[in-house]
Amino acid sequence: MKTIKIGIVGTGSIANAAHIPAYLKNPHVDIVAIAETDPEIRAGARDTLTEKTGHPVSTFTNAIELFASGEVDAVSIATPNRSHVELAAAAVESGHHVLLEKPMAFTLEDADRLRAAAESSDRVVMIGQSHRYRDDVTALKRFADAGALGHVYHAEARLVRRRGTPTGWFTDQAWAGGGPLMDIGVHALDLAWWLMGKPEPVRASGRLTRAIGADPVDFSGRWRAKMPHNQDNAIYSTEDFATALIRFQDGATLSLTVSWTSNGPQDESLKVNVYGDQGGLQLEPPTLYSTAHHVLTDTVLPVKMGPLFQNEIDHFVECIRKRQSPISPVADGHTVARMLVAIAKSSERGEEVSVG
Ligand SMILES: NC(=O)c1ccc[n+]([C@@H]2O[C@H](COP(=O)([O-])OP(=O)(O)OC[C@H]3O[C@@H](n4cnc5c(N)ncnc54)[C@H](O)[C@@H]3O)[C@@H](O)[C@H]2O)c1
Repeated sequence: MKTIKIGIVGTGSIANAAHIPAYLKNPHVDIVAIAETDPEIRAGARDTLTEKTGHPVSTFTNAIELFASGEVDAVSIATPNRSHVELAAAAVESGHHVLLEKPMAFTLEDADRLRAAAESSDRVVMIGQSHRYRDDVTALKRFADAGALGHVYHAEARLVRRRGTPTGWFTDQAWAGGGPLMDIGVHALDLAWWLMGKPEPVRASGRLTRAIGADPVDFSGRWRAKMPHNQDNAIYSTEDFATALIRFQDGATLSLTVSWTSNGPQDESLKVNVYGDQGGLQLEPPTLYSTAHHVLTDTVLPVKMGPLFQNEIDHFVECIRKRQSPISPVADGHTVARMLVAIAKSSERGEEVSVG
C-alpha cells in the first residue's frame, strides 16, 4: 500500500510532544504539510519537519486551504478546543481521514455536526482519547470485556492536582469551552465510561467552581500551551474544579472529580475504579479484584502505561490501512460530549438534568 500522506493542523505543544514524533516513527506515513495560524510557530515546525523528514513540507496558514490542496490523505487536528469541530468536519467533508484531539466537542450542536459528517463519510474519524491506548488500560479492558466484573453498578474517575493549571488559552472559556472538565475530565470520564461497557447516560448532576483560580507557585510543573494567547492566565474564565454524578439507564452510576488546582495532595495520575457484582478493577496500579474459592483475590497486572501516543497514532494509521473503525470513534466522543454538556448545564442550574 502507498505511503499515507499526513498533514498536521496546529503545530503546538501536543503536536510536537506526541503526534509528530509518533508519525515520524510509523513506517507507513509521511508528514508532508502543516497548517498553523501563528507565523513563528509555523516557521519553527516547518524547519523541524524539513530536517526530520528529509524533505520540504508545505505550509498553510489556513487549514481549509490545506484540505483543498489535495496534498494529504489524513490529518491530525491539534488546535485549541474551539476550532475542533469546524476543522474536523471540514477535513472529513473534503475526503480526509481525521485524528481529532480531545475534547471532541463542548456543545451538543457541534457534537451532532461532527457525528453527521463522520456518519456520511467512509473516512476514519478518530478522537484522541489517548488513555484508551495505554498498555495497562488495554490489558484491563480485556478482562472487563470478557465479563470479569459481572454487572457493573458504579465507577469512580478522578484526577485532582494540587497545582497544575495549564498556561495559555486553556483558562479562557471562549477558546477552551471549559476548564479541567474539558481538559482532563474528558479523559477521566471517557475512560471510566468505556471500561464500564458504555452504558447509556440518562441524568447528570454536576458542580463546577473556580475556588482558587490562578495561583502560580514556584517549583511546580504545568502544561504550557504554545499559542501566545493568555500565557499569563490573566483571562481565567473557566472553572478550576469539577465534580459530577452520572446516572445510566441500567441503574449504574459514575462519579467524577477533576481539578487543576486544589489544597490536597499533589496527584498527576488518572484514577479509575470500576465496581461490578463479580469483580472490580482499578487503574493505578492495574488491578483486578475478585473472589476465588471464597477468598478475596487481587490480581495486579505487571503491565505499565506504555507509549500511549505511539499506540494511538499507530492505531489511527492501521485503521486507515485496513479501513477499520477506531477504538475511540466519533460515536463515543458524541456520548461523552453529551455527558460533559449535561454536567456543565446541571452546575449552572443547580439541579440534576437529563443528558441531552
Ligand atoms: N491527549 C492529550 O492528552 C492532550 C494533551 C495536551 C493537549 N491536548 C489537546 O490538544 C489540543 C492542543 O493543545 P496544545 O496544548 O497543543 O495547545 P497549543 O496552544 O500548544 O497548540 C495549538 C496550536 O494550534 C494553533 N492554532 C490555533 N488555531 C488554529 C487554526 N484554526 N488552524 C491552525 N492552527 C491553529 C496555535 O497557534 C498553536 O500553535 C487541545 O485541544 C488540547 O485539549 C491533548
